[in-house]
Amino acid sequence: MKMLEEKILAEGKAMGEDILKVDSFVNHQVDPVLMQQIGTAFADHFKDKGVTKVVTIESSGIAPALMTALALNVPMVILKKQPSKVLNDDLYQTVVTSFTKGTSYELTLSQKFINESDHVLIIDDFLANGEAATGAIRLIRLAHATVAGVGILIEKSFQPGRQKLNDQGFEVYSLARVAKLEKDFISFIPEDSDDN
Ligand code: G4P
Repeated sequence: MKMLEEKILAEGKAMGEDILKVDSFVNHQVDPVLMQQIGTAFADHFKDKGVTKVVTIESSGIAPALMTALALNVPMVILKKQPSKVLNDDLYQTVVTSFTKGTSYELTLSQKFINESDHVLIIDDFLANGEAATGAIRLIRLAHATVAGVGILIEKSFQPGRQKLNDQGFEVYSLARVAKLEKDFISFIPEDSDDN
């Protein structure tokens, strides 16, 4: 998505070779016009997939997920992060370990909001090692729902997240695919690449 790539080039900062800082429009301050365009792009791509709910992981996935849900005219559900297991029969929970942040948390979903009739689109801001998306898929399966696909704003294509999700049979559609990060240099995989 041209608009997102241009924004990354204009305002993104490569923190070494691994981390891309996008605090001014995704992770801290949020650009609503960009988020609306992102929602339209995801809705356009997944419009024929029978999506009944959009699911995201708090917190930075919420803005693009909400815009996508609005464009698809379906509800959005937020998977919550709890520091430790909560004893509650009405919750599905799974442990997610983030290699990027070196932390673990319980990803949590209330049984009220997803069930076996749902076909779920997962939206998140970053795809790195894919641990968060894989945890979200585990919760959706616990709820006996199915996964329509995974929509990502910024995929770090030099990390194994996409491969991990594709290997499990899930479609990954990313709006910006970062091929390489270096100090003052960010390159992308072209938009019309066959494997997106
Ligand atoms: P992982 O398997 O390496 O842990 O990667 P995952 O895709 O699960 O991402 C873990 C967390 O790290 C996510 O944030 C993700 O957005 C963030 N992250 C990964 N790579 C980058 C990066 O290059 N830049 C930035 N800005 N963030 C990155 P989170 O813990 O879910 O937090 P939140 O921002 O959604 O609150």
